[in-house]
Amino acid sequence: MAYTVLARKYRSQTFDDVIGQDPIARTLKNAIKTGRVAHAYLLAGTRGVGKTTMARVLAKSLNCLAFDAPTTEPCCKCDSCVAVNLGEDIDVIEIDGATNNGVEQVRELRQNAIYRPARCRFKIYIIDEVHMLTVPAFNALLKILEEPPSHVKFIFATTEPNKVIATIQSRCQRFDFSNISATKIAGQLKFILEQEKIKYEDDLILPLAKMANGSMRDGLSLLDRLISTGAEPLTAELLEEFLGSPNSEKIYNLIGEIGDSSAAGTFAAIEDLISTGLSEVQVVDSLIDYMRDLMVVKSAGAESELLILTAEQRKRTGRLAEKFDTAALIYNITALEKLRWSIKNSDTPRALLEALLLRFTLSEHFLNVDELLSQSQAGPVKKKRPTSVKSEASSKGQGTKEDRGQKTEDRSQATSIEQQASSPVRNLPMGTGNATQKEKKSNGTSDERRGKTRSQRKNELINDPAVKTVLLGLDATITGIEENQ
Ligand SMILES: Nc1ncnc2c1ncn2[C@@H]1O[C@H](COP(=O)(O)OP(=O)(O)O)[C@@H](O)[C@H]1O
Ligand SMILES: [Mg+2]
Ligand SMILES: [Zn+2]
Repeated sequence: MAYTVLARKYRSQTFDDVIGQDPIARTLKNAIKTGRVAHAYLLAGTRGVGKTTMARVLAKSLNCLAFDAPTTEPCCKCDSCVAVNLGEDIDVIEIDGATNNGVEQVRELRQNAIYRPARCRFKIYIIDEVHMLTVPAFNALLKILEEPPSHVKFIFATTEPNKVIATIQSRCQRFDFSNISATKIAGQLKFILEQEKIKYEDDLILPLAKMANGSMRDGLSLLDRLISTGAEPLTAELLEEFLGSPNSEKIYNLIGEIGDSSAAGTFAAIEDLISTGLSEVQVVDSLIDYMRDLMVVKSAGAESELLILTAEQRKRTGRLAEKFDTAALIYNITALEKLRWSIKNSDTPRALLEALLLRFTLSEHFLNVDELLSQSQAGPVKKKRPTSVKSEASSKGQGTKEDRGQKTEDRSQATSIEQQASSPVRNLPMGTGNATQKEKKSNGTSDERRGKTRSQRKNELINDPAVKTVLLGLDATITGIEENQ
């Protein structure tokens, strides 16, 4: 028997089956119960979230032959329901707006719409991707929307509602479909795997659901691809192998190295990821995802429901989060997002990726506002050392000539970094550096006398034009994006 893709095989049949769109389902059911079904609906939302599905459920509800009037529970067995499910009913006409987008087609639709439905209560036009209609086609449509025959209903679906002209929008009742949460997609994936009697490991489900990015159809298509490998049970490793998602173990490792301020470790971890065939952009995307999780742990705790993680991943994320402070994570995520754009247009994406991650790794040794503050109050503070350099040099013994060269370089880099670190004001242009040092002598007490809180002082420092220039300059160099001042 031919294989039917899961997305078609498991299309929801009734309002209650459509996952994650409850408010819309409820409103439509109420409209049917109270006989207030609008003559035109606009269903907006990204692909694969249930727009066509909902349009068909509504069409079946209005036309089900098992009842004398519209129902909220279509039978799904009568000739009408069956034909609607296949998209082949004579009274429920599905039109692809992308290909039938001309004024001629809309005129033809108008002429046909005048005739009563063949066997059911309503003639229902479902126009998919309605934003693709040409302007003359929209105008032609407008005419019939203004005064539709009472037996006609329109259901428009679009992924780009902003491209649907206002005069059409104002004549429709609009529903915005939500992206479906990873947890809900995961539930459906499990349900389907059980129905299909396919063995799987639990660890597979959440990462797979996350990859679907809110689209149930994408989730099911990914599952189709996994199943087509013939492997059983389906595992998280299989997912990583076949769908080119970065090995989570490797990403955790990279983040760990960054958190430990290990320069050499960071480079090795990047190499480890890139050598599996991932692009730099894929690495950046994963890093953003994982750093986001760390940020959530920091602000909402490791048990937060905002984290879509397996128990093991949750523990791991919790441990990694301890290596970062929230400000650093916020900075890292925004810098990665900027980097994403610049590396897409770069001939040397690898170097840019490495530069930024090295910047993260050594962040403690660049300008650090917190430390500047504590230095200006209480003298030098304990510095984190670039651990990689020391441990590599002592633990590895001889090594090759190249190795030794590398180490020497590392060591000199480390020294200069430590020098910088011990006097962070050197990072500032001279003028401000001096000013800060002057303050340093008297500051500790004077600020307190003036009653400034630590965070006020920190804000002042961050907003100091010279400090800003240094930070932004550094970031612009790496991400290639100038801040609009
Ligand atoms: N909300 C949902 N609940 C359950 N399954 C869904 C949902 N959205 C999409 N699907 C699955 O994805 C397939 C395609 O959905 P569809 O309604 O055609 O999406 P679109 O929003 O692009 O029109 C469906 O056949 C179904 O298997
Ligand atoms: Mg659709
Ligand atoms: Zn029916």
